[in-house]
Amino acid sequence: MNLNFRLFPEAASSFAGQIDALYIFLCAVTVFFVVAIFAIVVYFAVRYRRKSADEVPDPVEGNTLLEITWSVIPLIIVMIMFAWGTRVFLVVRRPPANATPVYVVGKQWMWKIQHPNGRSEINELHVPVGQPIRLTMTSEDVIHSFFVPAFRVKMDVVPGRYSSAWFEATQEGSYQLLCAEYCGTSHSKMRGKVIALSQAEYQEWLDEVPASGAPAAGGEALTMADMGAAVFEQFKCGTCHMEKSGALGPSLHGIYNHEIELVDGSMVVADDAYLRESILNSQASLVKGYGPVMPPYAGQIDEQQILLLIEYIKSLSGSDEAHGE
Ligand code: CUA
Repeated sequence: MNLNFRLFPEAASSFAGQIDALYIFLCAVTVFFVVAIFAIVVYFAVRYRRKSADEVPDPVEGNTLLEITWSVIPLIIVMIMFAWGTRVFLVVRRPPANATPVYVVGKQWMWKIQHPNGRSEINELHVPVGQPIRLTMTSEDVIHSFFVPAFRVKMDVVPGRYSSAWFEATQEGSYQLLCAEYCGTSHSKMRGKVIALSQAEYQEWLDEVPASGAPAAGGEALTMADMGAAVFEQFKCGTCHMEKSGALGPSLHGIYNHEIELVDGSMVVADDAYLRESILNSQASLVKGYGPVMPPYAGQIDEQQILLLIEYIKSLSGSDEAHGE
């Protein structure tokens, strides 16, 4: 058993040190002023106490220098907090362009993880060390929160929308994955592990035939895009989204993360959130030139199937576009 006292959980991601440094700075400033102010209050109470019953104190006039000092110093300190906090925030909120996508669906009470190559896992997330991972997350039911203390990553996982987070593991090992949002009876059991492997071990793991995904005819594992094509087939999406003029629905080729024009003339980027919305509630933002003929699929398709469809649509745009996010 490790009895060493540790102020922080293990730090195993690329930005953990930056977050800890900011946290220590904020705590240090807070502790300094709390201690200083309490000490001064006590000192003044003793030093300036009323010494006799008939003593009348002199009135105290303002002191401009003192007032400027106690305004300017805190101003400088909060500006440092703002600048430093913004810098760290931007690092944490902006995944590097070369980040590997991984999809997470939270559900009472488990974490379902889907890798683009088709491997899926539950309550475990395998990642390579030294490679940024970008998570796209949503929930099948209530609000959960994806929390890996060792990576200093915590992000709400919200039904009805995608949230995202990223991290880069810096050390091999197994790290706790927790749900940090009370989500019902078994909230405390909604936990798993993030397993950080060396690049070689990760590649080996990724290439194993997925335990839960069905292997294709040739024994090759199905990628998310392959499975998405099957969902596309299952819901007969191709009936309208076929590649010829006069089709009832717009072509899906090359649209991923590109601007498209809507009936009202506005432009939107066909990103994950737009595609998800268009599948569930297709009438919400119609593409210019097409009528409101697509039925809403809300209630018929689950979040995982939507993620598969999005990966399929992404694959129709080629890998170049998919990387240029
Ligand atoms: Cu999920 Cu708490």
